[in-house]
Amino acid sequence: MNEYASAQRRLCFAVQNRFGDGDSMSERPSGEALSAVRRVLDRTLEPSRIRDDPTELEKYASDWSGAPPVLPDLVVKPRSTEEVASILRAANQARVPVTPRGLGSGKAGGSIPIYGGIVLSLEGLNNIEHVDRANMTAVVGAGTILADVWRATEAEKLFYPPDPNSFDICSIGGNIACNAGGPRALKYGVTKNYVLGVEVVLPTGDIIDAGKATLKHVTGYDLTSLVVGSEGTLGVITKATLRLLPEPASIETGVLHFANVHTAARVLTQLLADGHQPRTLELLDHHALDALRQKSPNLFPDTIGALVIAETDGTSDERAFADLQQLAEAALAYGALDVQVAQNEADRRRIWLPRNTLSESLRATAEAKISEDIVVPRSHIPDMIDAAQRISDRHGVKVATYGHAGDGNLHVNILFDRDQRAAADGAVLDVLKAAISFGGTLSGEHGLGMMKRDFLGLEHSEHKIELQRTIKKSLDPNGILNPGKVLPRRAISSPQVEAK
Ligand code: LAC
Ligand code: ZN
Repeated sequence: MNEYASAQRRLCFAVQNRFGDGDSMSERPSGEALSAVRRVLDRTLEPSRIRDDPTELEKYASDWSGAPPVLPDLVVKPRSTEEVASILRAANQARVPVTPRGLGSGKAGGSIPIYGGIVLSLEGLNNIEHVDRANMTAVVGAGTILADVWRATEAEKLFYPPDPNSFDICSIGGNIACNAGGPRALKYGVTKNYVLGVEVVLPTGDIIDAGKATLKHVTGYDLTSLVVGSEGTLGVITKATLRLLPEPASIETGVLHFANVHTAARVLTQLLADGHQPRTLELLDHHALDALRQKSPNLFPDTIGALVIAETDGTSDERAFADLQQLAEAALAYGALDVQVAQNEADRRRIWLPRNTLSESLRATAEAKISEDIVVPRSHIPDMIDAAQRISDRHGVKVATYGHAGDGNLHVNILFDRDQRAAADGAVLDVLKAAISFGGTLSGEHGLGMMKRDFLGLEHSEHKIELQRTIKKSLDPNGILNPGKVLPRRAISSPQVEAK
């Protein structure tokens, strides 16, 4: 066993053997506790809202993380904030775990009910209350599909920028819970930059209105920010007030070709340092291109080893085009091989489609895949790309890197055969440590969920983790809400990070 796999095993052993305060709910509920909660639910909710048939339980046992499924005891589907409150009150009283779930597209296992109990599905809270053109805001139910939010805002010539790749299957509540981002985050930021307020039901059943539908707001602590990105561990988001922008009048899309990923990373870092402000700079390395070539062999010239999808937008066609042209000329001067520009909307779609399906295309190239979501400061993008290559060589597993490189958010994917599990785990640990060593973070948009919670100690001090446990405990004294997520089972003190 190499030193990395062995470090990983020690880490897992440690967390299996010491539970901390953050995990007071650490086993499945008793039959009595479930019967107590069921009695209250049967009294307060319509029967169709409560499901315990095997097919339904199975449907809500997993998400898009690839983590092993865990069956809940009950699936409850409220239709109002008051119903959410009554479910949480009953569960808190009976000490039954509740795992909130938007539409299950999370990549970190955040909605897997690892201690059983209730899966609280927010899918029925999908009402778009209004889009306010004058104030450029929208009020939407947590279960609303992101693509529906886009359609409603675009109908008013308004723009909600966050664009996770799962936009047509994910919910706005899940996006807020994970502070989701996507390609456009480079120019526009992530979900938290567009959430003015949230209606939240606390684990005790109390309903809180955090935030304001105004652009500025500094009264009291910022509870909205506390909830955004808390992955359903502090409260259940039922409704959100979103900030909108005017819709950009024009978008231009180009594909920059490079000989290799190192040059691509160096050039895109240089473009940003020079002050270009594209809305996307999406990087695909040679493994990513090869995965796409397996489906469509002539998609890209054989000579290229990496590409970057650069998109600009602006208040007129001339401006968006001029911005793309300047960026493309600079990229060619810095070492890009070629630039192809979309001539129309159909071209744009053809450019984005392979990128949007990349995760599945990569999945098909190996028996197993672990997808990381690290972020590094922009100046370290080339260093991180090189580190990923070294980690691949050291552990003998394929490491494909793609993603929102412009903002430093790289999806580093470890691709391996089933018998290479230890090597893959070692590579994951090294990728995380490398990101931290460059001043980066473990996750940019997917969150920690259950998959990465035990790595939080690589990034946060023990003191900081304890502080977060105190916050969790003050809001959720019985630890019923989404137990086993985000905070590690014990604080793992910061190990020596890997030297570059
Ligand atoms: C993407 C997902 C994995 O960007 O976040 O494709
Ligand atoms: Zn992504």
